[in-house]
Amino acid sequence: MLSHDDNERLVRIGKGTAMGELFRLYWIPFYASAGLVADGQPKRVKLLGEDLVAFRDSDGRVGLVANACAHRGAPMMFGRNEECGIRCVYHGWKYDVTGAVTDMPAEPPTSRLKERVRIKAYPCQERNGVVWTYMEPDPQNAPPLPELEWNLVPAENVVVTLRVQECNWLQALEGEIDSAHAPILHGRIDSKGSINDWIAANDLRPMFQCQRQDFGVSIAARRQVGGGELYWRVNQFVMPFYTLVPPQSKFPDLSGHAWVPMDDEHTLCLMFSYHPTQKLGERTRTVFLEGHNGRESGHASRHAYTPKSPATPYADFWTRYSPEAGFLFDYESQQTIWFSGLPGLWVQDAACQAGLSPIYDRSTEQLCTSDVGIVMTRRLLLDSAADYEQRRVKPAGVDDPAVFRVRAVSLTLPDGTAWMEAGQAFMRAPVGSDFGYRL
Ligand code: FES
Ligand SMILES: [Fe+2]
Repeated sequence: MLSHDDNERLVRIGKGTAMGELFRLYWIPFYASAGLVADGQPKRVKLLGEDLVAFRDSDGRVGLVANACAHRGAPMMFGRNEECGIRCVYHGWKYDVTGAVTDMPAEPPTSRLKERVRIKAYPCQERNGVVWTYMEPDPQNAPPLPELEWNLVPAENVVVTLRVQECNWLQALEGEIDSAHAPILHGRIDSKGSINDWIAANDLRPMFQCQRQDFGVSIAARRQVGGGELYWRVNQFVMPFYTLVPPQSKFPDLSGHAWVPMDDEHTLCLMFSYHPTQKLGERTRTVFLEGHNGRESGHASRHAYTPKSPATPYADFWTRYSPEAGFLFDYESQQTIWFSGLPGLWVQDAACQAGLSPIYDRSTEQLCTSDVGIVMTRRLLLDSAADYEQRRVKPAGVDDPAVFRVRAVSLTLPDGTAWMEAGQAFMRAPVGSDFGYRL
């Protein structure tokens, strides 16, 4: 349980809020490079509550500018993306990716107004098919991009998908550091598929241990597997909004999410799956992008999307599995196929996270033993926000991109072995190296 005040501090991300200021210290992944075409249609974006427009100019550079024109506030989402800039359709003011005005067609040629006016613009960088932005007010002090492995491995080793989820960012994030739910919520009662073969399905009562780290929190779930051995799955929470999920013997990919707050009630769920040293097999890639026998995997498949009008932020990434549609819950299939009656992996997670309300009042929850990782994560976030708010002390990873070089791990260890000591080296495996242990 969390006090109402602490809940409010954690979920609000607008400018001037505790979490909003903390998030603005970090580079934020916010778009797929392929979704922004040179001189193509600008895309409306909402990030940390700010109304923005992303575009790619004629030279291939990405711009992220305010949706309100600096002149008299016409929507820049209608802007003409042409000849190295975005032009407001109202009176034709044109801006480059830095926010500088390059043309004011209705002003006299002698006017010097354009030297004084700018539209708000945030710097962008691209790496491995992902566009990042830095929303801190002083872009001169931007640190290097975080060295997250999924964004550093060769492009053929990784799949990244985006979708919008209609709930608060923390509500979504907490689902992925709570691994107790996995073999229950995702289980099948028809014994088909491979979910019931997860090692984790052998023991539905894992014992949890957590450890604060410089990057965030390690959340270890210990399960009995017999033969004098224990199976440890260590999920990672990585500041400020990443989760990392370990591989399994039959699914040797690492995966996870950036849970990027669009506003208080909407989250951009950027999911990545990757192998540290091998390119993803064609079949695996197809399952992620196309679904599997008509159901969703951990990724939103291309069949899931129902694009909205371009006036909607992230219009291309809304799905038909919405709260309004009941996430396509099917009672009949609950009797015959899925434990949950919800069609597919990510849909099951999303339904439990966003099905009730976009912001859950955590002062009414009753936490149990499997929630220790969630408790420690909330505490770390609250402490980090307070440290920055009161003393301007930044979290460890903000200025040190190497702090983000971390993996989730799944280890089978002899009974009595300490998971932290045994797992630490594998959590910090250098980019380009294999797991280093038997899956
Ligand atoms: S409002 Fe955009 S140019 Fe006038
Ligand atoms: Fe899940």
